[in-house]
Amino acid sequence: MVTVSSTLSAALLQAHRRGPKKSLPAEVYSQFLSDAAKERKPSPIRGLYPLESRPGLISLLAGKPNATTFPLTSIQLKARSPTDPEQEITTDLSGNALAEGLQYGPTAGIPSLIEWVYGLQEKEHGRKKGEGWRVSIGSGSQDVIYKAVNAIFNLGDSLLVESPVYAGVIPMFTALRLDLVEVQTDSQGISSDSLRSVLENWPAGKPKPKALYTVPYGCNPTGMTATLERRREVLRLAREHNFLILEDDPYYYLYYGDAVRAPSYFSLELEQPEVGRVLRFDSLSKILSAGIRIGFLCGPDALMTVIDMHTAVASLQTPSLTQSIAFALLDAWGYAGFRAHTAAVSAFYRTKRDVFERAMRTHLAGLAEWDAPEAGMFFWFKLLVGSDTEEGDSESIIRTNAVERGVLALPGTVFLPNGRKTAYVRAAFSLLPPEEVEEAIKRLRDVILDAKKAQSV
Ligand SMILES: Cc1ncc(COP(=O)(O)O)c(C=O)c1O
Repeated sequence: MVTVSSTLSAALLQAHRRGPKKSLPAEVYSQFLSDAAKERKPSPIRGLYPLESRPGLISLLAGKPNATTFPLTSIQLKARSPTDPEQEITTDLSGNALAEGLQYGPTAGIPSLIEWVYGLQEKEHGRKKGEGWRVSIGSGSQDVIYKAVNAIFNLGDSLLVESPVYAGVIPMFTALRLDLVEVQTDSQGISSDSLRSVLENWPAGKPKPKALYTVPYGCNPTGMTATLERRREVLRLAREHNFLILEDDPYYYLYYGDAVRAPSYFSLELEQPEVGRVLRFDSLSKILSAGIRIGFLCGPDALMTVIDMHTAVASLQTPSLTQSIAFALLDAWGYAGFRAHTAAVSAFYRTKRDVFERAMRTHLAGLAEWDAPEAGMFFWFKLLVGSDTEEGDSESIIRTNAVERGVLALPGTVFLPNGRKTAYVRAAFSLLPPEEVEEAIKRLRDVILDAKKAQSV
């Protein structure tokens, strides 16, 4: 039996025990679908796949290659044990599991991995299979974010985005010429006051935003994690103003704060009178492998149907083989092993965060300002190079002067939807050994001092 994880609050546990939750009716979603999504038709071949499993039915349907011609006979996986890194676990991918990985498979993902995700989401977020939501596996979460954005937005629609925002999604939004409505963020994550103010001052006659895009844990770029109160308020506003929440959460398992973690939006919506506003994007990139390219989207059936139709024409499916490899490992670990592994990964990044912050305190005190992240792998800091009346601009300092001094970081402007100038900088602390952190921060110190000197002449 699946047990609900300790991340769920008492209120959520109650909601969970109350049994099936009312979902928004399917008709509601037509207002959220883009014209392109409404035009999507099921693949004539893939649409009939489910019939192939009917007992007694002889299928002449799909042009699947005959697997006896495939040369691979087994794949041996060796991985560190999640509980004892000194120990190596060997898993064989062979027989039916390998056959599943070598053949075309269902558009949404191979059944074994999909079932594993259902189990995970029940444990981690208290959401049960069969209650109006589904899973779709993508080639990384980026893939399913792209498809979801295209399933929802028409050219010129309004989208609420926390600002600053993950730079990797801005081109998706600008390609659709979306009206990006910035919602402020601070050390407690997205500002629900700013969101409320945007919505309450929405111009009369202008169509309301269809969705909010947010990265709630260890946000890329700010490193901040949204508090429970903020999350609850965002969910209330979503219901009041009728929008969807795109919960992009690749750093969820990289939480290393001292306080008990806040539940996800996907979980917290169980407290609402009905569920179905949250599309949750998870990623295996930061915890298993970025190159394996596996992410998963969980969301309401009506949206998942059109997203899967997009996959069916774009790539047929996410590679079965990478899904099979991921499943073989996850299955060998079990959920307890997965939890142990992710706990070790988050502890690793906590140590990295501490090393980085120590160096910042030593070398950047008085030259930069920051809030320490409690999840993820980024520091977002403000260069104190402005005047009394104007915030400074990190762009040329970071792009030119810093590179000349031998240190590379990202100027904050690339994370601002309108590209305005900012004194902020994003630094990733995931890779560097302590000696290089020390050297990088010393170089940054010299760069900031140069900039200040240049200002004063
Ligand atoms: C906020 C955010 N969303 C999505 C992604 C894409 O991740 P994936 O590797 O799962 O496609 C990233 C990658 O860095 C990210 O930072």
